[in-house]
Amino acid sequence: MIPVIAIDGPSASGKGTVAQRVAQRLGFHYLDSGALYRLTALAVARQGLEEAGEEILGHLTARLPVEFVGNDIRLAGEVVTEAIRTEDCGHLASRLSTFPAVRSALLERQRNFLRAPGLVADGRDMGSVVFPQALLKVFLTATPEVRAERRFNQLISKGVNVIMADVVRDLRDRDERDRTRAVAPLDPTGALILDTSALSIDQAMAQILAWYSMNARHEG
Ligand code: DC
Repeated sequence: MIPVIAIDGPSASGKGTVAQRVAQRLGFHYLDSGALYRLTALAVARQGLEEAGEEILGHLTARLPVEFVGNDIRLAGEVVTEAIRTEDCGHLASRLSTFPAVRSALLERQRNFLRAPGLVADGRDMGSVVFPQALLKVFLTATPEVRAERRFNQLISKGVNVIMADVVRDLRDRDERDRTRAVAPLDPTGALILDTSALSIDQAMAQILAWYSMNARHEG
């Protein structure tokens, strides 16, 4: 069986960076499942379908012309690696992700990332729904204050003009929606919780690698 490390957690918890570094270190493939939800959002917004019903959104998601080529993410051939990172795209992604038809349309696509020698998958439901067989399930989190500060710094460094109060409010809204949706809500049950509030990226990575080698040894 190909090993999977599932890393789930709320927005701005540092999941993306930590998961990529763990994948790099182990020579594993990496799945940024949030990018698929963001790509769906971008496609929906570009077609002006923000208010469309679930059935239409499900069809569109199933037919999404997406390619991951090296570090580039492409939608219908166009590189959208940066375009999907906006706050608007994140919000629409969070809203669309509450539709079961959208989630199930992305399920196979996510599972197709599973290839030898292994996969590090980051998202909200990697351990609970997409890869329930994962050898290690981590719930990566940090206090709301630390996450808001990280997101704020990230946006400022990208040259985006934001104020802290808006960042805090946006994070709170997104957390609330991701945690309370009916299908595949963000839930730490069954995962090892890693609070990164006081940890560096290297420390968080070291903890995950230590847990992984412990579990891998157990598997035999
Ligand atoms: O991780 P992110 O901020 O790029 O994800 C954007 C949104 O996509 C997130 O707010 C909720 C949704 N999402 C999801 O529902 N399930 C996942 N596995 C990943 C993301």
